Amino acid sequence: MSLRTPPPAQPASILVIDDEPVIRDTLAEFLRGEGYAVAAAESGERAVELASARRFDVALCDVNLPGMDGLDVLDRLAALCPETFVILITAYATVETAVEAFQKGAHDYLVKPILLHDVHAKIARLLRQRDLYRENQWLRRELNRGAEAGELVVGRTPAMKRVMDLARRVAPTPSTVLILGESGTGKDVVARVIHRLAQAAKPTDGRFVPVNCAAIPHELMESQLFGHRKGAFTGADRDSPGVFVHAGAGTVFLDEVGELPLTTQAKLLRTIEQKEVLPVGASEPVKVQARILAATNKNLEKEAAAGRFRQDLFFRLNVVSLTLPPLRDRRDDLPELAAFLLARHAEAAGKPFTGLSHEAMQAALAYPWPGNVRELDNALQRAVILGEPPLVLPEDLPPNLTPPAGEPAGTDDLRVAVARFERQYIARVLEHTPDKREAARRLGISLSSLYRKIEEGEAP
Ligand SMILES: Nc1ncnc2c1ncn2[C@@H]1O[C@H](COP(=O)(O)OP(=O)(O)O)[C@@H](O)[C@H]1O
Ligand SMILES: [Mg+2]
Repeated sequence: MSLRTPPPAQPASILVIDDEPVIRDTLAEFLRGEGYAVAAAESGERAVELASARRFDVALCDVNLPGMDGLDVLDRLAALCPETFVILITAYATVETAVEAFQKGAHDYLVKPILLHDVHAKIARLLRQRDLYRENQWLRRELNRGAEAGELVVGRTPAMKRVMDLARRVAPTPSTVLILGESGTGKDVVARVIHRLAQAAKPTDGRFVPVNCAAIPHELMESQLFGHRKGAFTGADRDSPGVFVHAGAGTVFLDEVGELPLTTQAKLLRTIEQKEVLPVGASEPVKVQARILAATNKNLEKEAAAGRFRQDLFFRLNVVSLTLPPLRDRRDDLPELAAFLLARHAEAAGKPFTGLSHEAMQAALAYPWPGNVRELDNALQRAVILGEPPLVLPEDLPPNLTPPAGEPAGTDDLRVAVARFERQYIARVLEHTPDKREAARRLGISLSSLYRKIEEGEAP
């Protein structure tokens, strides 16, 4: 039986990643000779860039790379393009390296010095087994990772790293933390992480008690927060501790703190300063220990200037503030977030999704996500319900993510004409400037919008 698998219509595409020019060129040349479509990258960073632009069937990746190393590349590719098989190239033939490579999600590995015959055999075998491999690999991997890190905060972009770094530093201190960010950016997740880290540093039996200040009716607000005594008002048939006492030495998370009525704000300020609450109907204050975290999607400074939020309370809450960037400003986090959230829904639904197809990922990367991570989460949940494993396809995503393909022919519609001109113009620039990053720069648009426009241009 021949080992030659690439179908005649479209050769399988291979990405070769190695910083040593000799190995890179030899592999690329050999594979081209075998009929594959080959691209080569001299670094992990470049490989990720190439893999964002088009789909590869197989990536051959050296473990030892300057900068982003082979295992990092593996991680990135797993999230970005789960359809791509990764073969790691290692320098040592030890069982440990092999085991580690597989544990990290590599589909196979090669040991240096590389025998071209081996390369060929492994690629051919992977391509033959493609469907089997697709079933479960990545899903299992994502879930294992999630379990290890617990309720983890996904984010590798500098902005998210800064947030998490600050969160880690402030967590073991008693400081109040104000968590800012648009709705759906992960304020709840970060609050829980701070609580967990605080408890890890100094274990108590304190609880994490979230309070949504926007959801509690004003007349119940103070009794919920500060507690009440039996008989304090109609329906108060017994003492109630309130969230500060309930949390013990744990954390009270005041979500949407900007919605607190001014009178309650005054009492909250007192609680923070005196470390005590006065339950409704009580004559003596009660000591409390809970740490306070607060979150809002409002600009509290503006609210204070407008007289809707107490300036002094703002200063008290704002000792340390963390700002979660909107998802559209950290698109590099999207592949990992999508993989993580998809794995969660796939597991819950018992449907073995492994990732997003190349086209679905392109659509997701191009969309601005006004609802941030929560919107992404909802979109993926919907895809798991509507779609069929293993891959999320563009048609499984909400319709607003995928612009309609094609357009009415022969029309005077200005929009259509402009779109047509734009396509021709972009095509022309790309002809002269094949490097997409550079082309995007010249066009004055972002790399992701360039990809989106290219995709749209390819639509029938
Ligand atoms: N960095 C992140 N890593 C993993 N999941 C996240 C992250 N940020 C948000 N999520 C998920 O997105 C959804 C919305 O996050 P949430 O913390 O409730 O947002 P917010 O409180 O800012 O409105 C939740 O399902 C949460 O688990
Ligand atoms: Mg929230």
